[in-house]
Amino acid sequence: MKLFQITVIAAAATLASPWSLAQGQPPLKVGLMLPATGTFAALGTAIENGFKLYVDQQGGKLGGRSIEYVKVDDESDPSKATDNINKLIKRDNVDVVVGTVHSGVAMAMAKVAKDTGTLMIDPNAGADAITGPMCAVNIFRSSFSNWQPGYAMGEVMAKKGHKKVITITWKYAAGAESVNGFTEAFKKGGGTVLKDLTVPFPSVEFQALLTEIAAAKPDAVYTFFAGGGAVKFVKDYAAAGLKGNIPLYGAGFLTDGTLEAQGATADGLQTALHYGDGLNTPRDNAFRLAYAKAYKLQPDVYAVQGYDAAQILGIGLAATKGDVSKQKEFAAAVGKSKIDSPRGAFMLSKAHNPIQDMYLREVKDKENKIVGIAAKSLSDPARGCKM
Ligand code: BEZ
Repeated sequence: MKLFQITVIAAAATLASPWSLAQGQPPLKVGLMLPATGTFAALGTAIENGFKLYVDQQGGKLGGRSIEYVKVDDESDPSKATDNINKLIKRDNVDVVVGTVHSGVAMAMAKVAKDTGTLMIDPNAGADAITGPMCAVNIFRSSFSNWQPGYAMGEVMAKKGHKKVITITWKYAAGAESVNGFTEAFKKGGGTVLKDLTVPFPSVEFQALLTEIAAAKPDAVYTFFAGGGAVKFVKDYAAAGLKGNIPLYGAGFLTDGTLEAQGATADGLQTALHYGDGLNTPRDNAFRLAYAKAYKLQPDVYAVQGYDAAQILGIGLAATKGDVSKQKEFAAAVGKSKIDSPRGAFMLSKAHNPIQDMYLREVKDKENKIVGIAAKSLSDPARGCKM
């Protein structure tokens, strides 16, 4: 080859955009490990919809690579989680795992992701450990830690003057951690927790515990339930005659994506969450319009988290020219970026968890209307994270 030709090829390579350099790369395989069945099935669908919407808005490519999906129904079953993620990584050779909803399943995923060095983006599960002791350069969360909405609601309830509260939730990591976050703030504000009540996950047999609450007559109740369980709990609370007598509060999952099914039984409930209705920002309005057009559905918090998981992946891939193995560069790019979320722009903490406003919402006309800020720019304490 003549010297002139070599110079031209070298110059073309220097000038080439990340997009054109990546054009020769195969599709990026995204493993979607989400629940398609069980009490969290609708949450999994919303996350997948949100993720795909963002990818579609980028012309089906992130960092210049087209996206191919491999899906597994994790059934929100922690006992199957290690096998499921290993299949995605070892059999299907995915480049990145996106999942999941259930904290117990997500912790098993994070262990495998950390051990194998696989890129993982958690689009919901709040397990504190994922951005605590299990934090890692290759693990990111687009959602929240269980501590965050709980802590925000604890502050609000103490400020409202409630003194004696009962908590009720499912007996698993998300429920326990949500209640811990709540209790930390509520006690700081001068409140007392009379009793922590639990049912096994995913049981919806609430009757005996509702009878116990009625007998104890606390000032208020704090709860964490989500998906199908949240629908049943809110209906049962009203049917037991407690609504209107003992105020019910919760982490916002209690009323997110559930209001059609809960109907009037949810009216007036106040919850704390990083998303809600009535933000009325150009960013959120555009997202809602696009989501409604694509899926003939209104988005909820889970859809936003899926959308933002894809945004995080896009930022990292743009910086690494589509190469997920460049983990430090990927993390550095994500770490210094503002994620342009429909919830409001946010940055990730050093432990890779969103630092974000927790909105106070109240249910009215089947919407979680934002009525204030429960906690501004709330960052998870990331206890135990060494990174
Ligand atoms: C969790 O298990 O972390 C979770 C499940 C549903 C909604 C929110 C959190």
